[in-house]
Amino acid sequence: MESTRKKLITLLADAKDSFISGQRLSDELSISRAAIWKHMKALEQEGYEIEAVSRKGYRIVSFPEEMSVNTIQWDLRTVWLGQKMYYRNQVDSTQSIAHQLARDGAVHGTVVVADEQVKGRGRLHRPWHSQKGKGIWMSIILRPNIEPQRAPQLTLASAVAITRMLKSVCHVDAKIKWPNDIFLHNRKLAGILTEMQAEQDLIEYVIIGMGINVNQNQTDIPDSLTEIATSLKLETGETFKRETLIQSILKELEVIYDQYIQQGFSAVKSHWEEAAYRMGETITVKTRNQKWDALLVGIQDDGALIVEDQTQNRRVLYSAEIDWKRGKEE
Ligand code: BTN
Repeated sequence: MESTRKKLITLLADAKDSFISGQRLSDELSISRAAIWKHMKALEQEGYEIEAVSRKGYRIVSFPEEMSVNTIQWDLRTVWLGQKMYYRNQVDSTQSIAHQLARDGAVHGTVVVADEQVKGRGRLHRPWHSQKGKGIWMSIILRPNIEPQRAPQLTLASAVAITRMLKSVCHVDAKIKWPNDIFLHNRKLAGILTEMQAEQDLIEYVIIGMGINVNQNQTDIPDSLTEIATSLKLETGETFKRETLIQSILKELEVIYDQYIQQGFSAVKSHWEEAAYRMGETITVKTRNQKWDALLVGIQDDGALIVEDQTQNRRVLYSAEIDWKRGKEE
């Protein structure tokens, strides 16, 4: 259900520079003109600049610089994903907030966004640098009716959603490094952390955590990562409005998720393969206690990675870390 505030912002935003009368707003939203006025005051408190002219009505002069649930939701064109949303200025990790919300019964499609994370985490317990105002730090709660062993496929679907957003909104051709990294021009731009609470054959919930470096300058990237990490701003020279990117990812993810639930992983596989990074190249595979060279062949119908070892044996990997051999990096 759309909230009254969100509908109000949508009406005003869709009118662009034109005024909408208080009467029309009151009719469309089925609330009194006094209630409309109260909403306008609340919007001003949130940083919207609103012009009110007697006999003409209201219009939005400018949107707040600060991100909020309203600024993300006003042009969010999803049916269920992100319709329930939490925004926080600073958190330890949006993953932890999402876990708590999910345990407390949050609905499928609930989204948590933060402006800054002070204990952002990546795969393999690595820290994830999440500077204030520079990137997208977001966790999505899903309650899919699938077997727990299929949950990693949701990481691949999410990676496809991110690359599609990057293509349509930012006009860049990013690539997916199995299973969870998004690369642009051979540097890591984004990562996905999928966590799950499940019983033997029943998923209680899945949390998809997405970290996307958007507006970082070179000085924002820690020294130890300058060779491996990048941001959209560093690669394109442009600054992006994070709300627009979030709206697009959520739309893309909703579409691909619905297809996945209806048709299975085949609905994701070909899209994933189109964006796959460095297929056919030699990689180093690191599993729990082994490290070996292999050829990157592709993914299976269930999303597992297919590689060919040095004795030309095909091997299937469900969890591993892969890397490229030095000298091939650029
Ligand atoms: C990785 O590449 O290892 C995954 C990085 C995932 C980072 C995101 S940012 C939002 C969410 N909250 C976290 O603490 N981590 C994920």
